[in-house]
Amino acid sequence: MKSGKIVWQSPSNIALVKYWGKRDNQIPCNPSVSFTLKNALTTTEAVFEESSSFQFELFFEGHRNPKFEERVKKYLISLENDLPFLKNLKLTIDTKNSFPHSAGIASSASSFSSFALILNDLEEIFTYNKADLTRASYLSRLGSGSACRSLFGPVVSWGESSLEDSTDLFGSPVKNVSEVFKNFRDAIIVIDQGAKSVSSSMGHKLMNEHPFASHRYEQAQMHHKMALDYLSKGDVKGLGELMEREALMLHGLMLSSPSPFILMKPQSIEVINAVKEFREKNKIPVYFTLDAGPNIHLLYPQDVEKEVQQFIKNNFPKLHVLFDEVGMGPKRTLIEVME
Ligand code: PMV
Repeated sequence: MKSGKIVWQSPSNIALVKYWGKRDNQIPCNPSVSFTLKNALTTTEAVFEESSSFQFELFFEGHRNPKFEERVKKYLISLENDLPFLKNLKLTIDTKNSFPHSAGIASSASSFSSFALILNDLEEIFTYNKADLTRASYLSRLGSGSACRSLFGPVVSWGESSLEDSTDLFGSPVKNVSEVFKNFRDAIIVIDQGAKSVSSSMGHKLMNEHPFASHRYEQAQMHHKMALDYLSKGDVKGLGELMEREALMLHGLMLSSPSPFILMKPQSIEVINAVKEFREKNKIPVYFTLDAGPNIHLLYPQDVEKEVQQFIKNNFPKLHVLFDEVGMGPKRTLIEVME
């Protein structure tokens, strides 16, 4: 009878070229590329033991959370074919985020990548298939698409693209990244902490009926290629302007969907306009992006950190800001197996 405990810390990521639109099983309609973050982390502890049936409990920040537990349970049951040993496992998961629960930061990437890393270790323990990050990325994708980009750092690509060996099945680190991007900063300006009116799974679904979908997927292929070129050349302006166009395109797709919806808030637009004005006036290379929500990520090189922090303080003293930076991916902090 094997039992034990595994702990992983896994980060969130921010997409530069966005994944928006998917087929079954989180197969993306276009390639995406992201920076892995460093401070926005999920820490997940799993206690396991062999059992005659599958048993599962999830604690989020110390408390049972039925809604989240149900989602993760569904995910685990969906993995029955990939991970048949789960049928004979009692698993208790205790998971928490480094960022405030109410900060409105998407935690599915950091959460599902941490779960997949644990499953990947369990796979090695119970089947002797060697654990590896690519397999963990594959398993993460099945839980939440963008989670498969959290397994590596500093820059990760996912989806069939111009890159050799690219695949829709898992993410891979981008090899050719200029030094300036390896310690890029990300200040996450929290505009709204409430639940989103339209979830990202619903947003992906709406792309199936979207009149501009095929053009978007072509454009994303082109943007992905351009992003890789800027990343390799250290072209901050090129990448910055591209990521802004991508963010506005993402929200433009929401606005022009057959069932239109708006996730930006008036203050999101205020921040966007202020950033553009600050950049043009002071020649400071700081650029914005957004995920499927109202919060703004400001991305900038390390050497203008002070100026950007001052800009945020002067202009948005009341808004909550999470200061993050590009990171190198997940870390296992404990593994104990008893026979
Ligand atoms: O992984 P999901 O289903 O939460 O979708 C994420 C979608 C975006 O955050 C808007 C874009 C991306 O590539 O991360």
